Amino acid sequence: MMERMILRQLRDTEEDAEAVRTVASAAFDTSRALRGEPAADWPPDRLARIDSRNRHLARTDPGGCWLAVDDVGMPVGTVLSTRREGTWGLALFAVLPRAQRRGIGRELMAAALLYGRACLRGIICGSRDPRAAATYRRAGFTLHPAMRLRGTVDKELKARLPSLDGAVHEGTARHRDLMDSLDRRTRGGAHGPDHEEMLRHSRLLVVDELTGSGYCYIGADGDVELLAATSRRLAGRLLTAALLSLPEGAEVAVENLTAEQEWAVDVGLAAGLELSNAGYVCLRGMRPPSPYIPSGAFL
Ligand SMILES: CC(C)(COP(=O)(O)OP(=O)(O)OC[C@H]1O[C@@H](n2cnc3c(N)ncnc32)[C@H](O)[C@@H]1OP(=O)(O)O)[C@@H](O)C(=O)NCCC(=O)NCCS
Repeated sequence: MMERMILRQLRDTEEDAEAVRTVASAAFDTSRALRGEPAADWPPDRLARIDSRNRHLARTDPGGCWLAVDDVGMPVGTVLSTRREGTWGLALFAVLPRAQRRGIGRELMAAALLYGRACLRGIICGSRDPRAAATYRRAGFTLHPAMRLRGTVDKELKARLPSLDGAVHEGTARHRDLMDSLDRRTRGGAHGPDHEEMLRHSRLLVVDELTGSGYCYIGADGDVELLAATSRRLAGRLLTAALLSLPEGAEVAVENLTAEQEWAVDVGLAAGLELSNAGYVCLRGMRPPSPYIPSGAFL
């Protein structure tokens, strides 16, 4: 066991954002190294977006975002969780490698679960770490194995995609009500303030027709971050439009696809993206939302 460890609420400060980033990158880089993968080498603008997101969560959910600090005041672990209209979400969970396996993860998770105790639904995009899986199972989550699509955008990839079967527009803050409605319909709770944060950093594509609607965020680094729609047809159109909108040479990733998102797997395979298994979408009190691609952090 640790000598002494305290949990304190995360603050909306530069120092705390850096503490979260340091803990998370050490934890995830060590997991990558164990799998024989290189450490993440993220450019400063991507790190700035992560800091901005974590500070946003410290503001919206102070009771759900915690830092574990050791007896000399060094941050050793963190958990970031959110409540959105009865849907609890886990945005980040990490413990410094040198402090792992001593129960810190369990304590952090207990604080985050307490924050979500009144929520009927829960969602986590879980890593492959068996300790994370053990923690989520103990908290009553069902683990849905997930797939990931990855590849480099080039002329051939775009040529393989079918032409769009209807209009897709650039979205703005004016689409907030539409997106919140789509969130409620697919995952049970609106993202609310998270849309403001996503709009700051990501491009938004929207379909809004009499027969249905949908939206999709594309991160600055080419990741399809979040997609919700009223039908698989419109979801497929949005994902196709997202891929077509990326510049040649961009690295694209679409993650957290459970078997329910076959419409997305089909678009990716048609485009020639590489398909692999990666992590779990962990759910409590709900079936996998569909057609829906959760965001790893905003879920
Ligand atoms: C997941 C993580 C946060 C857990 O932190 P930790 O402080 O090591 O966790 P704990 O010591 O509290 O152990 C967690 C549980 O996993 C169990 N566990 C430990 N090793 C295990 C293994 N190899 N297989 C299965 N379960 C294991 C522990 O027994 C413990 O359960 P308990 O509370 O019933 O004793 C930490 O390992 C980590 O940062 N991993 C890398 C980042 C990551 O993948 N985060 C999850 C993102 S979704």
